[in-house]
Amino acid sequence: MIGAGSRRIVITGGNAGIGLALAKKLADRHHLLITGRKSPADVARIIPGGVRYVLADQGDPEASARALADGMGDLGWDRIDNAVLNAGVGFAAPDGFDATDAIRQTLDTNLAAAIAQARMLYPFLEKSRGTLTFVGSVAHRGSAAIPAYAASKAGLHGLARALRSEWAGRVAVQILHPGPTRTDMHEKAGYDPGRMRALFLDADDTAKMMAAAIASRRSPVTVSWLRYLVGGAFTGRRL
Ligand SMILES: NC(=O)c1ccc[n+]([C@@H]2O[C@H](COP(=O)([O-])OP(=O)(O)OC[C@H]3O[C@@H](n4cnc5c(N)ncnc54)[C@H](OP(=O)(O)O)[C@@H]3O)[C@@H](O)[C@H]2O)c1
Repeated sequence: MIGAGSRRIVITGGNAGIGLALAKKLADRHHLLITGRKSPADVARIIPGGVRYVLADQGDPEASARALADGMGDLGWDRIDNAVLNAGVGFAAPDGFDATDAIRQTLDTNLAAAIAQARMLYPFLEKSRGTLTFVGSVAHRGSAAIPAYAASKAGLHGLARALRSEWAGRVAVQILHPGPTRTDMHEKAGYDPGRMRALFLDADDTAKMMAAAIASRRSPVTVSWLRYLVGGAFTGRRL
């Protein structure tokens, strides 16, 4: 039973990996609406009980924002407390050149859709003086073999800085930059981290550190092993 103090939270890309780990962590105490690209039937057995799911394919940025707005409308939500724009893709480009389709998909999914969704979500967040969280990556500083991905995350970083200043006092805006985390993302991207995968953070630990960072409203926040080693998954404010 969700009680007093519960929030209305939107998480994009909430049906897998880090987004799903975050949804599982928050589902007992808050009202959640999560999105993904898969059909509702395909995720029915994956998502936590009580969590509402909406198909919102970010390959079409504007349509994904409309689908999310419709999903909130179906729930009768006229305000939300948090939005975590987490959905993302990457494609390995071992020779340093992304294929044209990979560039398009990466920039649309990771950046253009986040811009369209942020614009749509603003009035919902403003009503509750809420928080908009972008999920970037430590790769935003540039990373070999994933140039379009790095560019999309650098774009998100700039977007978050701009909106944090533009919306100050009305909506808190932050960006979190996770470090390498054990999800299916690397395999989907065609990248094999090999033995390095053993050094990746567990998705549950990344989600715990993200939840504390979201509650803090600070920005930017790097969600890495260093933070984990100083107790970041077990300390900090509770969302
Ligand atoms: N894992 C890492 O090492 C790492 C490190 C730094 C940053 N990140 C960032 O963290 C976020 C989550 O990554 P993850 O590792 O959890 O990846 P993941 O396991 O592959 O999950 C990605 C999520 O994004 C959704 N998504 C992908 N393309 C979409 C589209 N076109 N439209 C709608 N939803 C789409 C997926 O939905 P479907 O399953 O329905 O396709 C899924 O829910 C991403 O922004 C990623 O860039 C990850």
